[in-house]
Amino acid sequence: MLAVEVLAPAKLNLVLAAGRRRADGYHPLATIFQTISLCDRLRVWPLPSQPSRAAGTEGIVLRVTGPEAAGVEAGPANLVARAYRAFRRRLGPAGPAGVRVALFKRVPKGAGLGGGSSDAAALLRALAQMTGRNDAEALAEAALEVGSDVPYFLTGGTRAAFGRGERLTALTPLPPEVVVVAKPPRELETGRVFLAFDRLRDDALADPAADPRWRKAVAAAAAGDRDALWRSVFNDLEPAALGLAPEIEEGRERLRAAGAQAVGLSGSGSALWAVMPSPAAADRVRRALRRAGWWAWSGRFVERLPAVRVLGRAGAGEGDPA
Ligand code: C5P
Repeated sequence: MLAVEVLAPAKLNLVLAAGRRRADGYHPLATIFQTISLCDRLRVWPLPSQPSRAAGTEGIVLRVTGPEAAGVEAGPANLVARAYRAFRRRLGPAGPAGVRVALFKRVPKGAGLGGGSSDAAALLRALAQMTGRNDAEALAEAALEVGSDVPYFLTGGTRAAFGRGERLTALTPLPPEVVVVAKPPRELETGRVFLAFDRLRDDALADPAADPRWRKAVAAAAAGDRDALWRSVFNDLEPAALGLAPEIEEGRERLRAAGAQAVGLSGSGSALWAVMPSPAAADRVRRALRRAGWWAWSGRFVERLPAVRVLGRAGAGEGDPA
């Protein structure tokens, strides 16, 4: 069996229309996802069958390192561990005793960047490669079982998503725009932001895709008309996120003042994204935001997920995984 390395990119929500809470507790969404060059990295090895290595692990031994590892749990609640269990249930076990995973975190959590969801999808892609079990439908079902954003990360790119995020359609790919992502120290929990949204918006539509602002934005994206798209950016979760983290407004003003062509809140926050006119302008505002105590990064939109890379056959990877 193979040992593999896979990158897990973060996403932005360029546009997000949210509808009224459904009977199942979730909110219907209409959103445009975009992957960026900020990535976590997973290395995955088959676990040898010695009971001492695998005892009590439920088939996955997870180690988390990297600049954004603080506060990320390495136990069974991590979305990577949940993805392993979902894969095993639907597609069968991997490795004689499961897998060992080294997760290197660069994507901050509580940001709306989908880091945990992307890690989960990356593990599913890795397991599909390692085992040769590639049933796309079963993988998509396993992905949705782990979280609303996970199915998107099986493909990435510029995509419209509906429902909880599992109904995906491709849009005209956007060029590799220069982007800054900035997050205040405060993290936001998706569930709490949606609860605040319920209190603020008792007039939310049953079908957010019927919202004229969504129609305008998605028409611009489908036509590849960036200027029109940047003029139609909105996120229905923003008032709720601002109520919980008012400092987001200050970040938005700094990004605008730095010449951003568009600024938006990603998902339920607390991270903002900004499309910038040049890498130099992006660097300047990134540095200024870091001085102000924010987490800040600059890079590019990316359209294609990096391929799963084979590290070697089983047995390789017995050294230090990081
Ligand atoms: O699906 P996921 O576990 O990522 O969602 C986390 C929480 O966010 C859910 O329990 C739910 O409260 C909320 N949520 C929602 N509507 C969505 C996605 C998430 O209400 N479309």
